[in-house]
Amino acid sequence: MIFARQHTYGPVKGFEVGIAPMGKPIKSVYLYHIDSILIDTGPHHLRKKVSSMIDYDNITTILLTHHHEDHSGNAGLLKDQYSVPVYLHPYGVSKLSNGFNILPYQHILFGKAPRVQAETCPEIIETENIILKAVHTPGHSKDHTVYYAEKEGWLFSGDLYVGEKIQFFRIDERIDQQIDSLKKIAELDFDMLFCSHRPSMKDGHTLIQRKLDYLVSFNQQVLELHKKGMKEKEIIKQLRVKNDLSVKLFTMGNACFSHMVRSSLNTLQDYQQ
Ligand SMILES: [Fe+2]
Repeated sequence: MIFARQHTYGPVKGFEVGIAPMGKPIKSVYLYHIDSILIDTGPHHLRKKVSSMIDYDNITTILLTHHHEDHSGNAGLLKDQYSVPVYLHPYGVSKLSNGFNILPYQHILFGKAPRVQAETCPEIIETENIILKAVHTPGHSKDHTVYYAEKEGWLFSGDLYVGEKIQFFRIDERIDQQIDSLKKIAELDFDMLFCSHRPSMKDGHTLIQRKLDYLVSFNQQVLELHKKGMKEKEIIKQLRVKNDLSVKLFTMGNACFSHMVRSSLNTLQDYQQ
């Protein structure tokens, strides 16, 4: 039922966890441990497994890429038990201190993240053996932040990448911000992509560039169809994708293709639904 596997990427340890009713996890989540830093904390449902995998005596800093429950679910627990400070973007600090509701599918997959008093992440995080730069990359969420190790050529990318040809957006995702964030990151020099769901130990920069190209082209396509006079529903029909209904039903409308199309249309100043 619970899937857990440890990976070693040189000095970085990756902890992959997920709920797996049929053998393979429905959605794997990765936590990373480098030097004395833990990046993301995993879903609250998997707290026992996460606790058994990680040596907390060696952790002095917890960095969160964003507040979503699959990343922040054990931050409170770890802070309380080990007195380790938790850092993220100020928007995420406020979400985690007030708590936030999640939908039934998120309860099933991840569990609700308990509240935690986190702190605003400094721009540079330095420990004995590593220097990380926090780079704000909104679009997936307002607080989304990646952590860049320039000397090593590593990017801890949270949910910035996840996959190249994304076809479903959450209701609050913004395509224009995602494109700007990907452009910002494409200017950096790195090869290893420590993604929270699909890491790649080579060609990380190429993957980021490909996702950027895809989103730019998708956005243009939607805007061109709109220029031709097509309404939102017609554009969605024209660009039809597989599995849209099943994803939409499972997530109770939180994630679907229409949010992605609408996000493009919302970049037009005069667009009215
Ligand atoms: Fe996320």
